[in-house]
Parts: sequence; C-alpha cells; structure tokens
Amino acid sequence: MSLRIEQGDITKYEVDAIVNAANSSLLGGGGVDGAIHRAAGPELLAECRTLGGCPTGEAKITKGYNLKAKWIVHTVGPVFYENQRDECAELLKSCYKNSIVLALLNECKSIAFPLISAGVYGYPKDEALDIAVSCIQRFADNMDAVIVLFDAEAFEIAKRKYPEFIIIPSVTCPIFEIAKKANQN
Ligand code: AR6
Repeated sequence: MSLRIEQGDITKYEVDAIVNAANSSLLGGGGVDGAIHRAAGPELLAECRTLGGCPTGEAKITKGYNLKAKWIVHTVGPVFYENQRDECAELLKSCYKNSIVLALLNECKSIAFPLISAGVYGYPKDEALDIAVSCIQRFADNMDAVIVLFDAEAFEIAKRKYPEFIIIPSVTCPIFEIAKKANQN
C-alpha cells in the first residue's frame, strides 16, 4: 500500500476510483461534488437519481463517465458540530471505511480522496486530515491511495503534519543548477 498527499483537482486524477464528498440526496451540490458532476457529465446525475440517496457515513458507487477515473464512490460526510465531536469523528471514519470497502469490492487498486467534510460541512481541516490518514492507512491495504487537497490552507497543514506523505515533483531550478555546477568546479 502507498499513501501520498498532493495539492490538486481530484476530477483530473487517473485512478480506478475517486471519492466524492456528496450530500445525502446524491443529486449534486457545490464544492468537490459540483466539480465532479460538471466533469463527469449529465449521465452521472441520471445514475445518481436511481440510487435513492445515501445516509451520512455510508457510500454508494457509480461509473465515472467522462472522468479518467473508472468509478466514483459517493460518500456523505457529517456536518461538523463542536458539541458532537465524537459522533462526527465516528461518522467521518465510517465514510473512509465504507468508501474503501466499496472500492475494494469493485477491484480498485488505486483511489483518490478529497478531504471529506472539510469544506461546506465545516470539519476542522487538521482533524479531518488526521482521520483521513489514519483510516486510509488502516483500511486501504493493497491500494495506492492519494489524498488530493484543493486549497492551500489544507496543503500547508499536510506539509507540516505529514511531510512523509508529500512528494514534491523535482523541478529544475536554474539558480540551483548554477550553484551545483559552481560547486563541482
Ligand atoms: N478537488 C479536490 N478537492 C476539492 C475540489 C476538487 N476539485 N473542490 C473542492 N475541494 P466540500 P464537504 C475540497 O465543501 O465539506 C457540497 O455542496 C474543499 O477545498 O466539497 O464534505 C455537497 O453537495 C474541501 O477541502 O465537501 C454537500 O452538500 C473538501 O474538498 C457538501 O458540499 C471538501 O469540501 C459537502 O461538504
């Protein structure tokens, strides 16, 4: 199993399954849900209409349509309430666990997750990330998993807390190259 954390747009990922942070209607919305529906096309909404919604903490799967991903696992995260921290954490863990189980049942070997509940649903980003990392490590055995962070704030938190999972692509920096050459001479 491998886990990476990257900054990017999950709709662009070429993986077996991407996870959608949906609402219980499964009929689309804003945030990552809206982006996934726009990128996948109208057939996605047509399939979602046949699913009868999804309770918080559970997951349902559809095809990926115009996405590069073969499958979309739709899960419904909890709305965060400060005075219900433990219940919210349990529901968020269920989202990851149920999404991974559904992906495995569909023979997925690679999966990309957004930071479920950490947008409109108000989950503190650092706590949402801790739950994401620990659940993926625990349940996504034998899969290549990536957490795709869209916003800079979440990515800064990840760089600070989980540097071991961040792979910065190697870029050729001209000044660095000049300095390296100067050292060699
Ligand atoms: N790729 C990856 N992550 C993204 C993208 C993207 N293209 N766009 C946004 N994010 P949210 P929630 C991040 O609000 O909190 C919807 O209306 C975003 O920065 O999408 O679970 C649904 O229909 C944040 O870190 O989902 C529900 O009604 C993370 O995705 C409700 O929002 C989750 O933010 C669900 O709220």
